[in-house]
Amino acid sequence: MEDVSSLVAKQYEAFAYPRPFADLEAEIAKGYYQIGDPALYGPVLWPRGRPRKRLKILVAGCGTIQGAYAAYMNPDDEIVGIDLSEASLAHERFLQDKHRLQNLKLFKGDLLDAASLGDDFDVILCTGVLHHMADPGAGLAALRDALAPDGVMVLMLYGATVRTGVYMLQDAFRRIGVQQTSEGVAQVRQILRELPGRHYAQDYIRAAAELKDDAAVVDTFLHPQDRAYTVPQLFDLVEGAGLAFQGWVDNFPYWRNGAWGPDSAIAAAVDPLPRREHWAAVEMLGLAAGMHMFTVRHAGEALQVDFEREDWREFVPHWAPGLTRRASGLFQRGPYELKCSELEQFVIDGADGKRTIGEIIDVPALEDVQDEFGRRYFEHLWKLGHVMIALP
Ligand SMILES: C[S@@+](CC[C@H](N)C(=O)[O-])C[C@H]1O[C@@H](n2cnc3c(N)ncnc32)[C@H](O)[C@@H]1O
Repeated sequence: MEDVSSLVAKQYEAFAYPRPFADLEAEIAKGYYQIGDPALYGPVLWPRGRPRKRLKILVAGCGTIQGAYAAYMNPDDEIVGIDLSEASLAHERFLQDKHRLQNLKLFKGDLLDAASLGDDFDVILCTGVLHHMADPGAGLAALRDALAPDGVMVLMLYGATVRTGVYMLQDAFRRIGVQQTSEGVAQVRQILRELPGRHYAQDYIRAAAELKDDAAVVDTFLHPQDRAYTVPQLFDLVEGAGLAFQGWVDNFPYWRNGAWGPDSAIAAAVDPLPRREHWAAVEMLGLAAGMHMFTVRHAGEALQVDFEREDWREFVPHWAPGLTRRASGLFQRGPYELKCSELEQFVIDGADGKRTIGEIIDVPALEDVQDEFGRRYFEHLWKLGHVMIALP
């Protein structure tokens, strides 16, 4: 039996992932960005601000793009990328040469040996990797040992609810003996076309535009090692490694996923629950988290945003990446739409990443409604993931 790392490495040699593209600058100009990028998600990683100017960032399991992208977007920082797959690293090197990324070092290796890189990292990005390891807890512990005392990790793990049907198909394809070859990919595509409309994987397949790429078909349906997490399982993994959960990178799926309104029976039932119970219940009711992206720190270091704090007026709201104004009173962020009144729009416009909530709402137009409105509307925007909050 080959060990899991060799099987996983073999897959990503033959089907490097994600689909490589040739020019970072051109893709970024077209709107490409990576969720969790330290350059764009500062308040999510560091609610009290960056610890220092020049940071060491480890991209563990960088794949084809993430190391070069991090180096391009964070030019003042030192980036180290590691991956098991030479094919993936070759594309990272191609992007590195093309964009002259002198702040990037690339290594072939297993993230289990991250500590041997000899550095304490201020940031560790590890997205879509731990759930492909034989022992994700051991992988996370290895990353913990390479994390600086005040460092932060951005992790992404698959979400169990949305992928239920994917695991049914993985099981079937394994029994049928479908191989990780172009013939195997063609067979998967044929079978997907004939699946019953009520198959549990149909919603996933409809939403996953990337399945047009062979590497994504292999990654999704023919992976030799892949597991997914519910919210409570995710906390067990994090705390089992002696780390502390800090927050979601995008709050939307965990607070209100748009499937129910503030006056609904669901809101009445889940809103009073403690945070973790709320998130776990919302995950099961909303089925909106296909992947969990979140930040963790060493135990005792995590900071939570909480609008019940007395100093909420000192919070500084920033627009989340991807939030755009579509028309007067209409904002959009990815698939999420936000309709708002003139007053609400005024408040959103004020969230320039510089002013505190107190400074934004302290205007004559808001005199009568000011405090409670300002607090609750920014809390609402934060729970929707449309604004990030920097703490005093
Ligand atoms: C699904 S891809 C994700 C790539 C990248 N993190 C991203 O988000 O675009 C998973 C990558 O992790 C790498 N990988 C898996 N297990 C690993 C391990 N134990 N150590 C280092 N890299 C690993 C694979 O070779 C592959 O390139």
